[in-house]
Amino acid sequence: MTKIKTISCIGAGYVGGPTMAVIALKNPHIRINVVDMNPEKIALWNSDNMDDLPVYEPGLSEIIQEVRGKNLFFSTDVDQAIRDAEMIFISVNTPTKSYGIGKGMAADLKYVELCARQIGKGATRDKIVVEKSTLPVRTASSIKKIFAAQQSNISFSVLSNPEFLAEGTAINDLLNADRVLIGGEETEAGQKAIQSLSAIYEAWLPKERIISTNIWSSELSKLTANAFLAQRISSINAISALCEKTGANVDEVAKAIGADSRIGSKFLKSSVGFGGSCFKKDILNLVYLCRHFGLQEAGDYWEQVIKINDYQKQRFAENIVTALFNTVSGKDIAFFGWAFKKDTNDTRESAAIEIADKLIEEQAVITVYDPKVKYARMIEDMNYLDTRSEEENEKALNFETDPYEAAKDSHAIAVITEWDEFKTYDWQKIYSSMKKPAFVFDGRNILDHEDLRKIGFIVRGIGKQ
Ligand code: NAD
Ligand code: UDX
Repeated sequence: MTKIKTISCIGAGYVGGPTMAVIALKNPHIRINVVDMNPEKIALWNSDNMDDLPVYEPGLSEIIQEVRGKNLFFSTDVDQAIRDAEMIFISVNTPTKSYGIGKGMAADLKYVELCARQIGKGATRDKIVVEKSTLPVRTASSIKKIFAAQQSNISFSVLSNPEFLAEGTAINDLLNADRVLIGGEETEAGQKAIQSLSAIYEAWLPKERIISTNIWSSELSKLTANAFLAQRISSINAISALCEKTGANVDEVAKAIGADSRIGSKFLKSSVGFGGSCFKKDILNLVYLCRHFGLQEAGDYWEQVIKINDYQKQRFAENIVTALFNTVSGKDIAFFGWAFKKDTNDTRESAAIEIADKLIEEQAVITVYDPKVKYARMIEDMNYLDTRSEEENEKALNFETDPYEAAKDSHAIAVITEWDEFKTYDWQKIYSSMKKPAFVFDGRNILDHEDLRKIGFIVRGIGKQ
């Protein structure tokens, strides 16, 4: 086994940045180069002002301050990074394809393939190449073919090492990972490569938590893990709809079923619907793979997880319209939160986007407060939907840096993200500044509904009457 001293990571995003920061922290003897083709992003990673880092994660800036310039470096020079490293992580984006065969379902592997070609062309000695991006099962075989076609005298070992961190808790998830998964070829070289990567994680994780499998199992496990997690949310959200009709309380149901150790209590929080860059994209990819292999029923089963999520977002928006006397035309609605979950500035696939779109379609005017998301990002999210012009979006979607200002003169507040600070607000003061009757739609069930009702609010949660 080779003891790795130089690593490069292609892709300085939500995974590449935090993952490499933690590896650098725990392996001071390894020199790590994180590279990206986006020069603005790299400039932000190199910024002296920690508020500028392109990824917000609790605990990340402290680690960056400790290791950046010592054994962690950010640059745009991908070729140099390829030449220098014994081990290269591919951590680029793998979005849903927006064109051609598999449009709207399959993963777009163009960025991964570009990396593979660049690595194949630029390598001057043997390399271990690690798939960190989430990829369809059997991608490693395509990557190997690309390498083989470009260089016959250099040996490339390809490993699959999917990342399981969740945003908002990335640093903790990396430092205390339940498991690290490494898939490799069942050859001697493949097994040695697994050991080299395993040694890097063993710097801080017990060996028992490092699972090695064949490469296809590893690739498929990542899609499966995300599908199972998202399925739990869609399951409880489907129950939330029934709770609203029957007088059952979804939080009580979740507590009751979660106490069964076979079910477990995590990931049973009913919500406005799951967002984030991974769940939808990875399930669509899984559905595509099932259908590709002729497994229509298996594909239909997983697709339902996404359909329920769409239904949940739509239901939330419709409930707002219904409660506000069947019209929100010309009414002001304050959104508390835009990020897809708390403690992140990421908004990809956030439920906020489609809920806002639906309400704007009904001619509501929305004012958003989010502690970490910038207005420009929100407008970009709306523009991406392509429902209306940028000008129209800017007219219908406003932004305040103070939550009390966002709520002032509004007819209703919709809690979209579960930011902790919302629980600490002076809700009496908020109530006084709003139009009456004043509504709160708690899309995360994080507020004390009884307290709000005592103040005078009309309150609607998720999955409770
Ligand atoms: P991201 O969009 O935040 O970052 C990807 C980066 O790769 C971008 O900065 C982009 O400029 C760069 N890039 C793309 N092609 C490049 C190339 N050829 N050369 C150099 N740079 C290139 O994406 P992310 O959220 O970090 O996700 C990366 C991968 O990890 C995806 O496959 C995703 O599914 C997976 N993943 C993400 C998460 C998450 O929480 N975000 C968790 C687990 C796994
Ligand atoms: C997910 C996986 O958890 C992680 O393992 C994988 O590596 C990447 O995808 P992430 O999307 O960052 O992580 O966050 P996660 O905590 O899973 O939340 C995803 C969405 O589900 C959020 O919108 C969140 O608010 C929602 N959610 C989560 C619920 O609605 N209810 C829950 O009980 C849990």
